[in-house]
Amino acid sequence: MRQTDFDTADLRRAFGTFLTGVTVVTTRDAAGIPCGMTANSFTSVSLEPPLVLVCIGKGSSNIAVFEAADRFAVNILGDDQSEVATVFSARGVDRFATIDCLEAATGAPVLADCLSWFDCSLHQRVIAGDHVILIGRVEDFAIRPREPLGFCRGRFVNLGDKAAGSRLAD
Ligand SMILES: Cc1cc2nc3c(=O)[nH]c(=O)nc-3n(C[C@H](O)[C@H](O)[C@H](O)COP(=O)(O)O)c2cc1C
Repeated sequence: MRQTDFDTADLRRAFGTFLTGVTVVTTRDAAGIPCGMTANSFTSVSLEPPLVLVCIGKGSSNIAVFEAADRFAVNILGDDQSEVATVFSARGVDRFATIDCLEAATGAPVLADCLSWFDCSLHQRVIAGDHVILIGRVEDFAIRPREPLGFCRGRFVNLGDKAAGSRLAD
């Protein structure tokens, strides 16, 4: 049966049962000031062309910057970076004050110590309900030998050895 009167809190709780990684999405505003926010809505989309997506809430204080950006980077956090995720989701703090950044090819800031990063040019921007989907074309990326940070039911989780369990494919 089709249900249209969902309780938003219940729906959010149900969405939250999906175990994800944790990223920080970064870009620069028109003045070149770095801007970034924690996001777990990252998804790989396509290999050829290489595409990824991330969903930015329209209520974010950074929405205008991300809507105007023609580039962004997705930084996937390692298992010891839950504090970085907390800082990049907090309001009223200088999110970049305690973080080392590198400059990616597109000019987007890349977090120096993350697990992996994807430097993207904007491929498509899609308005979807209360979020804006940024689809990026991967221009460059890097991987470091670290374990990923996880997120489920509103909590950070460390997967440890479980992440290295049975391998389906390379
Ligand atoms: C683990 C985690 C994942 C999040 N994922 C997203 C996301 O995918 N999209 C989004 O818009 N906000 C997401 N948020 C919320 C933003 O990080 C946060 O609300 C926002 O940065 C608040 O500050 P702002 O209004 O300055 O952006 C997430 C927060 C956390 C802690």
